[in-house]
Amino acid sequence: MSLHLTIPRDAGALAVGADEVAAALQVAAMARGLELTVTRTGSRGLYWLEPLVEVVTEAGRIGYGPVTPDDAEGLIEALAGDGAHRLRVGRPEDLPFLKRQTRLTMARTGIVDPRSFEDYQAHGGLEGLRKAIEIGPAAIVEAVTQSGLRGRGGAGFPTGIKWKTVADAKADRKYIVCNADEGDSGTFADRMLMEGDPFCLIEGMAIAGIATGATKGFVYIRSEYPHAVAAMEAAMTAARRGGMLGRAVLGSAHAFDMEVRVGAGAYVCGEETSLLQSLEGKRGTVRAKPPLPAHKGLFARPTVINNVLSLATVPIVLARGAAFYRDFGMGRSRGTMPIQLAGNIRYGGLAEVAFGVTLGELVDDIGGGTLSGRPVRAVQVGGPLGAYFPRALFDTPFDYESFAARDGLIGHGGIVVFDDTVDMKRQARFAMEFCSIESCGKCTPCRIGAIRGAETIDKIIAGQDVARNIAVVEDLCQTMKFGSLCALGGFTPYPVLSAIRHFPEDFDVTPHRVAAE
Ligand SMILES: Cc1cc2nc3c(=O)[nH]c(=O)nc-3n(C[C@H](O)[C@H](O)[C@H](O)COP(=O)(O)O)c2cc1C
Ligand code: SF4
Repeated sequence: MSLHLTIPRDAGALAVGADEVAAALQVAAMARGLELTVTRTGSRGLYWLEPLVEVVTEAGRIGYGPVTPDDAEGLIEALAGDGAHRLRVGRPEDLPFLKRQTRLTMARTGIVDPRSFEDYQAHGGLEGLRKAIEIGPAAIVEAVTQSGLRGRGGAGFPTGIKWKTVADAKADRKYIVCNADEGDSGTFADRMLMEGDPFCLIEGMAIAGIATGATKGFVYIRSEYPHAVAAMEAAMTAARRGGMLGRAVLGSAHAFDMEVRVGAGAYVCGEETSLLQSLEGKRGTVRAKPPLPAHKGLFARPTVINNVLSLATVPIVLARGAAFYRDFGMGRSRGTMPIQLAGNIRYGGLAEVAFGVTLGELVDDIGGGTLSGRPVRAVQVGGPLGAYFPRALFDTPFDYESFAARDGLIGHGGIVVFDDTVDMKRQARFAMEFCSIESCGKCTPCRIGAIRGAETIDKIIAGQDVARNIAVVEDLCQTMKFGSLCALGGFTPYPVLSAIRHFPEDFDVTPHRVAAE
């Protein structure tokens, strides 16, 4: 008898023992004389079930998780029989967490073998690139514009407009830079995509190159992501061998090649101009804009800088058409967003859904509430510079404008959940401290403001002159918001002010909550 299993090699699965599980299953299969084939995939994003082992059957893949090495023997025994096992979760697609999703960008992540160019093509890969070559640069830019795709890195800038600016620029060289720095707390979709479906990012970058006339691309990945670096390197080699990269992309007249660059992992190096400095081998400090990178970017050449998810979404836009993608979403937020559920949450992982689902549906229904079982008190959306929302704002639809209208941001789609044991003045202090540590130091409101901010919140925590010190923090936030050169200093007020505004009881000298218990 022979068995075919899939086991993720995603960093999240590896962290909870996927390699050990794979080895133990091999040993157990050998002991029973079973022929075992294991395909290492990315993760489907069901992180509470990792390591999720799937057996390939005629009725599709059947999942078992979370599997430990101790389960190996029993699992192999079960798989050799009728498959019944206490860890059996059935077909992953039938789990409510996956059923509620619309997977467009992450459609293949967790399904395909990220090292196999053939598998990529067998699952619809290259359709977008072939279409792009067929229709040519102007029509590609038009399709991306019409799709309504906005930058998934945080700012939500229309991708088509960015590409058009670079396409229209005259220069001897142009570049495509992929921002894979992913520094936001609670985010991991970029990593998951690169580890689970790296050819999709390569395809998106090649399409961007053809659209704009850029012949060289760089993927800037933080050093904390060694598995993503390895996955990208392996895929790039296979893509080159398969003719997807090189002097004639898929035999066309377009040349495009790319390489990975590893950054040291400073948060500010995710900011586009700082990233360019770092790519050029300089210290990662923010450059004033203008000039925009689209006019004068890497090595002073016109440069497209896009997030991993923005680029990885382009192939499906081209393959299925702008209207298909545009049909999902609400308002000016079109398509789908890979949302990362993290923190104190029961079903932590990645859920890709069309824009418009409410924050409450994401946290309570898809995420299943807190892992601790206590009530959800606050969620921080959009990374360390995102606002804290209380339950009262759970009716907010997940879209750029709706969050902005409530003084929040969706950023890179990371949601971090806190239960009722959270102390919001400490969270506010953390934001200031984070800013002071990660500041590039170029401008005063951020460099000094964040340090003074943390000091002042310390006084509030100590109960010193609370009302006056809250006013000082609020005043400081206005200075940081309007005086900072980039969003690191400029957005730090979001978590600080939202904590004060939505959770005033935590900033009061009178310990209401303690007294009430
Ligand atoms: C402090 C700071 C950190 C950032 N970090 C990231 C990041 O890790 N990844 C990312 O894609 N964009 C990040 N951005 C946004 C980028 O500056 C830029 O808007 C983005 O790469 C553009 O790509 P997009 O249009 O595809 O979103 C950051 C911005 C700031 C101000
Ligand atoms: S806001 Fe902070 S990170 Fe941004 S340029 Fe100023 S000092 Fe640097």
